[in-house]
Amino acid sequence: MNPWKPAVTAACAALALTACGNASRPDSAVALPPQVTPQCALVAGHEARIAAGHEVYRGSCIRCHGADGRGMAGSVPPLAGSTRLAERPMLAVNAVVTNQTSLSPVHRMQHDDTLAALGSLTDTEIADVLSYVMTAWGNCHAIVEKEQVSAHRAGA
Ligand code: HEC
Repeated sequence: MNPWKPAVTAACAALALTACGNASRPDSAVALPPQVTPQCALVAGHEARIAAGHEVYRGSCIRCHGADGRGMAGSVPPLAGSTRLAERPMLAVNAVVTNQTSLSPVHRMQHDDTLAALGSLTDTEIADVLSYVMTAWGNCHAIVEKEQVSAHRAGA
């Protein structure tokens, strides 16, 4: 048995409790995931969303993009240190949204179970997970708003 598993499960439960229990408290009261770039000022006021996005990442993205955001050499592009995310933030929204609507082959190498998992993400979850990606592993790019995801999905 993997000796890390109980620890990871406990941390996950603690995080989930934190996210739920703090729903009515200011964002700044929420503990940030350790991957978040400490000196990134853009995080301020968005702590709860970034923490929620971290959970989405763990459930839907980590298997390909990795806990460190480095992806897989030759097949999955790195999200950590990506200049593309900074220069073209809507590309990131597109990468996840188009996967859901099959408008683009961006995530085409995915297996069916992965597609199903991403397909169930709401616009809020997509905005949250991208906000996490934008501010984790040294990244410090603009937070993604739910309205941006909704507008993109609607073709705006
Ligand atoms: C099954 C593996 C897999 C999963 C799961 C996955 N991705 Fe990807 N992702 C990829 C691959 C492969 C690409 C590159 C696709 C291409 O360039 O055509 C990519 C590209 C991206 C890009 C664009 C990066 C760039 O530099 O162009 C972003 C952003 C992204 N993924 C975010 C996510 C997020 C957020 C999740 C979870 C909600 C996720 N991905 C889940 C494999 C995956």
